[in-house]
Amino acid sequence: MKPLFAIFLLLVGTLPETSMALPTPLHELGVNEGRIDPIGFHDPTPSFSWKLTDTRNGARQTAYQIEVVSEGKTHWDSGKVLSRQSVSIPYGGSPLQSRQRVAWRVRYWDQEEVGSEWSEWARLELGLLKNGDWKASWIHLPKNGFEPAEAHGNPVIHFRKTFTIEQAPPTARLYLTAKGIVDFHVNGELVTPDAFIPGWTDYTQRIETLTYDIGSLLHRGENVLAARIADGWFAGTISNRVYGNMPELLAQIELVSEDGDILETISTDDSWKLSTDGPITMADIWHGEDYDARKELKGWDQSCYPASNDFQSVEVSPIDPNVDLAPKRFQTTCVTEVIDPVSLKHFPDGKVVYDLGQNMVGWISMHLPVKRNQTVTLRMAEMLNEDGTLYRGNYRTARSLAKYTPANDGIADYCQTFTFFGFRYVEVSGYDHGAEPSLDWIRGKVLHTDFPRTGSFVSSHKKLNQLHSNIVWGQRGNFLDIPTDCPQRNERYGWTGDAQIFTSVSLFNFDTHAFWMSYLDTIRMEMKPDGSVPNIVPSNQYRDWVNSAGWGDAAYIIPWELYLQCGDIQALKEFYPMMVKRLDYYRNKAIDGLVDEPDSFGDWLQPRSYGTNPIGKDDRSGETSTRLLASCYFARGADFCSRAAEALQQDDAASEYTSLFRQISTAVSSEFFDDDGKAIEGTETQTAYALPLAFDLLEDELAAKATRHLSSRLEKDGNLLNTGFIGTSVIVPVLERFGLREQALGILFTSDYPSWLYSIDQGATTMWERWNSYTKKDGFGDDSMNSFNHYAYGAIGQFLYERLAGIAPSPNKPGYAEILIAPILDESVPLTHAQASLETRYGTASNEWSKTEDGWAMKTIIPPNSNGRIELPFAPSAISGGADFIQQKKISTASVPAGIHHFKVTREAVDSDSLS
Ligand code: BGC
Repeated sequence: MKPLFAIFLLLVGTLPETSMALPTPLHELGVNEGRIDPIGFHDPTPSFSWKLTDTRNGARQTAYQIEVVSEGKTHWDSGKVLSRQSVSIPYGGSPLQSRQRVAWRVRYWDQEEVGSEWSEWARLELGLLKNGDWKASWIHLPKNGFEPAEAHGNPVIHFRKTFTIEQAPPTARLYLTAKGIVDFHVNGELVTPDAFIPGWTDYTQRIETLTYDIGSLLHRGENVLAARIADGWFAGTISNRVYGNMPELLAQIELVSEDGDILETISTDDSWKLSTDGPITMADIWHGEDYDARKELKGWDQSCYPASNDFQSVEVSPIDPNVDLAPKRFQTTCVTEVIDPVSLKHFPDGKVVYDLGQNMVGWISMHLPVKRNQTVTLRMAEMLNEDGTLYRGNYRTARSLAKYTPANDGIADYCQTFTFFGFRYVEVSGYDHGAEPSLDWIRGKVLHTDFPRTGSFVSSHKKLNQLHSNIVWGQRGNFLDIPTDCPQRNERYGWTGDAQIFTSVSLFNFDTHAFWMSYLDTIRMEMKPDGSVPNIVPSNQYRDWVNSAGWGDAAYIIPWELYLQCGDIQALKEFYPMMVKRLDYYRNKAIDGLVDEPDSFGDWLQPRSYGTNPIGKDDRSGETSTRLLASCYFARGADFCSRAAEALQQDDAASEYTSLFRQISTAVSSEFFDDDGKAIEGTETQTAYALPLAFDLLEDELAAKATRHLSSRLEKDGNLLNTGFIGTSVIVPVLERFGLREQALGILFTSDYPSWLYSIDQGATTMWERWNSYTKKDGFGDDSMNSFNHYAYGAIGQFLYERLAGIAPSPNKPGYAEILIAPILDESVPLTHAQASLETRYGTASNEWSKTEDGWAMKTIIPPNSNGRIELPFAPSAISGGADFIQQKKISTASVPAGIHHFKVTREAVDSDSLS
């Protein structure tokens, strides 16, 4: 008899029942992906969500009513709807129009069927939905004879236009976009606080537009509209200028009466003037920015600008009817944090190297003493060489620096606008050497898409907490308008494989729902008629480079993950056809249920070779069969399409895809495994087992056998992972799920190479591209592929939330309508405490456990209108307090309502039979 911990799940406390209280108000009224009071919104038929603030135990909604008002009249009234749904409720009125402003509110009835007060009004204003809404034309430099700067980037172009009004209008809107990146000023005030607008889409099909409220900035008399544009993703070196070789501006200002009538429209047209002779003499995403303060156009964005004659005429081009001008559907990029350096080192040659203490992405703002005409250079690096100088080899050809030339002696303030850097260290040279360098000379401005932070994880394990922090910073550094592989070298592309691997954890850390919707939209546009998907999206110059296994499959993986974690059925509806089209791509080429993509990246960057030939694109592709990888992803697609069809109540399609999934699973099982469950095609890698197991392709018996082989493969590999991007994203959860918990925890908690904690021991503050991108012993890896901010291995973060802290979306009711609480409470976990909290669409959910003298104590918080499903591998021998645990196989399950719940699991010697 094996001593086990028995099972004492004791509900020791819940919130008091106060059922007679009135329902409390609703809050966080959001549209579509939870956007609050958006202006310039893209969707004429939005959906609505709200959160209950009710803290009573068991708080839930039994009915709701939504009222939408426009121009003082009721536009749509849902009436009282008996439903618990409080997320993504479709608008049922007539479609909203461009510019339309509506207010909406909601009330609900609680578990006692008592009605709440109406909520506060929430607001929603549509942007310009159709190209036909634009009166403006594109304005730019004369195209004939234009030669873009060969080396780095073009100068920033300044535009200006003056106009006179007799009276300031009650309201005014600026509708704005650019081919390139833009900022906009009205009467000297910057009205675009965000960076890199409009953003990176497939510019040949869709260009995003933004709306700003500029009413308060206009005045009677002369007004000045001014804008600056830079090459950005459109015309910069990053896209090899495939979209165009110069930036262009499109803006429309509408002065609006109190009744909503348009009084006057001022648009970009041939009356605008431009100058390329401003202070930013070069700006490029890869190469940085050069700023010459001697060329400042002082007052150029205000009236009475003395040198307005220096501005030349613009050239005008019409709006292309084939390129959609569409309101941006997610948050823009903003400065989200400012970081002060933690130390500096002053070198004998005068250079100063600052350490920000954190690898980050964004800008450097400087405030330091300068000498007239003496250029200050800010050079960035993610790491330092041993002698304290910058390690920059891994930037490859990206120049990645900023220059500032002062017009006067004194203190200069400067921060970049039209570029970004990935760095931790900054070298400053060229300052006034008479001054003593000081820590407050520079600051790091962190930039990323401005989505709300939703998740946190903390445990008793310092390095594990650092790993979580590195994953979050990996996300912050790489979610800059699109999901990039890395933010620093001459790449920064939307690699679809990296994106799909990281989708799930990204949705834990931040509310990336809207961000992913936009990215999916671009994938859909870039998808070929046969369902092929580019490996990079937006694909810019790589349009025809498609279909690496595990990369293009983002087309069905991301929508499903989004549905699972956000519960957004509208999103699933929107992207289901794309999922099916991707699946059809494989279906059409499959032979007997199997497919191959021989030029795949394979299990990219498998760290150690088994001595056989790499399979796939090149010697970085690892040794796992590309046919196995592609067939597994084909099966994954069938599985997700079947689940999506079921959620969309398309029963025939659901059963068709389920049988396709079974057919592929059978083919994978018999083709790649022998009867003993041993992987038989090519090299027996960890991924050859982990991927089919992760995707549930092997029948129970075969899965058990394959698991044994995986276990011995791992043993032969020194109980260390030897997986690339694909295998690493699944290996730990697979080992744990298939009963190899000790090996799973072993590879997660080891600090030996290769492992997550190994790079932490080498000083990592972000996720690295390779486990040994740098080692204290051997220094730097190969410069040609050595990013220190590469989020793909951060996929492990999902396991931290789901299994170590124990909080996950339940597949039974996606989007946290049911919250799965299933932490590993086991002596083999080297933690004494773990806690995760998540801001869900229902409110804050959290789970927290700590070891006690006689077992574990756990505290679970379930937000109102949601349920908790507790799953623990203990028999419910003593459970009290209202949660009825049911034992099935080795799992005890209980459903708990909204509220705060405390549990105790008490150690007790029991016969292992009691768990079976
Ligand atoms: C990128 C990766 C990407 C890979 C594909 C690399 O250069 O940085 O993250 O997925 O290429 O092979």
